[in-house]
Amino acid sequence: MSVPKPDLTTDLGFLRLRNPVLVASGTFGYGLEFAPFINLNKLGGIVVKGLYFHPRPGNPPPRLAESPSGLINSIGLQGIGVKAFCEKILPQLEKTKTPLIVNVCGETDEEYAQVIDFLNAHERIAAYELNISCPNVKKNGFCPALNTEATFALVRLAKRTSRRPVITKLSPNVTDIVAIALAAEEAGSDAISLVNTFLALAVDVETRQPKLANVFGGLSGPAIKPLALRMVYQVAKAVKIPVIGMGGIMTGRDAVEFLIVGARAIEVGTANLVDPDATDRIIGEIADYCRANKIKKIEEMIGTLRT
Ligand SMILES: Cc1cc2nc3c(=O)[nH]c(=O)nc-3n(C[C@H](O)[C@H](O)[C@H](O)COP(=O)(O)O)c2cc1C
Repeated sequence: MSVPKPDLTTDLGFLRLRNPVLVASGTFGYGLEFAPFINLNKLGGIVVKGLYFHPRPGNPPPRLAESPSGLINSIGLQGIGVKAFCEKILPQLEKTKTPLIVNVCGETDEEYAQVIDFLNAHERIAAYELNISCPNVKKNGFCPALNTEATFALVRLAKRTSRRPVITKLSPNVTDIVAIALAAEEAGSDAISLVNTFLALAVDVETRQPKLANVFGGLSGPAIKPLALRMVYQVAKAVKIPVIGMGGIMTGRDAVEFLIVGARAIEVGTANLVDPDATDRIIGEIADYCRANKIKKIEEMIGTLRT
């Protein structure tokens, strides 16, 4: 007798996903770049590259350095800007059935609101993911994600401007991640996603120079998974809104770890750069895990860590 297909659907409250696997912003372009490699309609959701209002060239090269089990990037949020996205990319993305989530950036709180206001007119977007780790030019480059008051103020403004659910994406570069998550929740965020990259430095011993032109970059990939899991667990226990977990997910079993610690969905980042059809494989591996462990619905295992 064949084993029944497990139910992989997951509910974020404001959005029901066909499976919990989304792609992480910045590692999947604007979605279309990956269409030759995978069927975009199989994904739980697509989170596009972060968008500022205007186009940005990003940081000078070199902008990528590999480290053991990790990648350090200082792309500097290069992007085409919100208008070009809506004119050139969105009409093509609209053909997919998969929910589209736009990662929203800003050099000031007002710019985040401007981006959201512009995108509000476009029907096909399911939600915004607020990248609160962007340096604020009016505050000496200080990121809203580093402080509860700044997080609260930005999320509240985004919520007041938005016609859609807002997912606040947290930075792991803080001492108390739970305090930041609670500030976002109190300001009305509909969900939390975490983690963004860890601030890092790579050194070339021949030249004694940093490997990245920007000196610092953000570390992602398997090296950060245990740190990310700890933070997702802490945040999922503290907030009532849904949590989307990410950080170093390369396999279905990695994804399952995040679900067990309380994430209702996950995002796959660096794995896409190593293996363009990683998400397709990960969805299959989650289903295999469910079959092997007689789990009928993945929602059954969310937040079931036995401590
Ligand atoms: C090359 C690169 C570009 C990224 N760009 C963005 C971005 O535009 N917005 C954002 O919120 N996160 C960005 N991130 C962070 C990822 O979305 C993700 O939070 C992080 O890489 C951790 O997941 P991973 O270990 O699976 O890659 C970027 C990461 C990488 C590696």
